[in-house]
Amino acid sequence: MNSKRILIIGASGQIGSELTLKLRALYGNENVIASDIKEGDEDLMNSGPFEIIDATNKELIEEVVEKYQITEVYLMAAMLSATAEKIPMKAWDLNMNSLFIILNMAKDKKINRVFWPSSIAVFGPSTPKENTPQTTVMEPTTVYGISKQTGERWCEYFFQKYDVDVRSLRYPGIISYKTLPGGGTTDYAIEIFHEALRKGLYTSFLAENTSLPMMFMDDAIKATVDIMEAPAKDVKVRSSYNLSAMSFTPKELAAEIKKQLPEFEISYKPDFRQQIANSWPGSIDDKQAREDWGWEHEFDLEKLTKTMLEGLKKPVS
Ligand SMILES: NC(=O)c1ccc[n+]([C@@H]2O[C@H](COP(=O)([O-])OP(=O)(O)OC[C@H]3O[C@@H](n4cnc5c(N)ncnc54)[C@H](O)[C@@H]3O)[C@@H](O)[C@H]2O)c1
Repeated sequence: MNSKRILIIGASGQIGSELTLKLRALYGNENVIASDIKEGDEDLMNSGPFEIIDATNKELIEEVVEKYQITEVYLMAAMLSATAEKIPMKAWDLNMNSLFIILNMAKDKKINRVFWPSSIAVFGPSTPKENTPQTTVMEPTTVYGISKQTGERWCEYFFQKYDVDVRSLRYPGIISYKTLPGGGTTDYAIEIFHEALRKGLYTSFLAENTSLPMMFMDDAIKATVDIMEAPAKDVKVRSSYNLSAMSFTPKELAAEIKKQLPEFEISYKPDFRQQIANSWPGSIDDKQAREDWGWEHEFDLEKLTKTMLEGLKKPVS
């Protein structure tokens, strides 16, 4: 019997909105409570309970946890890399305080499992760039990366000291067509599809040969569900797992789009996000996630490109 009662904080965002629908399908609509500081799309709002919650409001979160008898929290609210560089102190405040609230609730046994996403932004210019190992040099240079790396250390600390069952993934750039991205450095790989279909051309804010690790949304959701379902003994990394599916450059993505839309043209005008991208790995070694809890990805560049173009062409129902 299913006794899970899940609260998702930041459910209206790019990942949260698809994650909520998946968790509702798996565990029952009434057992998955979505929350955010803003309302989500129609599917999210109409498929189950929704609460307006500020992720830094401890009292309100405790109230909602109590009201719905929540057992697990997925903390998806955060300020992403590109936005965080513009307002670093606000980003730090949101990214860290929201995590402390949830970790402390788990420490106090008010909830019994936590999912908190980290990012490839935990790595920095001194990290080995190709096939970046699970354990390696990490000197992030963005406020977002610093907040994620610090968060990882705290997750492991709460696990070691207080037996908090926290699970985490270092997501690469997540690509999807249902919800727009939220201000990250890999957003070009989503915008490009919208513009290819709308105008037949796109100006990339990253240079043509900038290789970054990427993943289609369905794989990111699958990994999230899989790590949360895994027996506790199999989750051996309690900071955050490397997670990988594919890596490509803007030039390679444009070439793949051209196979479907031969008229498509790309040009390049790198902006401040180029510097962020330069500090991140080009590819990730995720063998520990594959060994520990059986992670497997499904989408490669070709399948991702076809799925994105088909998904965006579909008329809105
Ligand atoms: N999308 C990616 O490519 C990617 C990659 C690596 C890691 N991540 C991580 O995954 C998580 C989700 O990312 P996303 O892409 O869905 O982000 P997003 O920006 O699309 O969504 C974040 C959501 O949090 C909400 N939010 C912001 N401030 C809040 C607050 N104070 N209280 C409650 N809600 C608040 C926003 O309204 C938004 O709906 C984040 O932790 C992010 O760092 C995302």
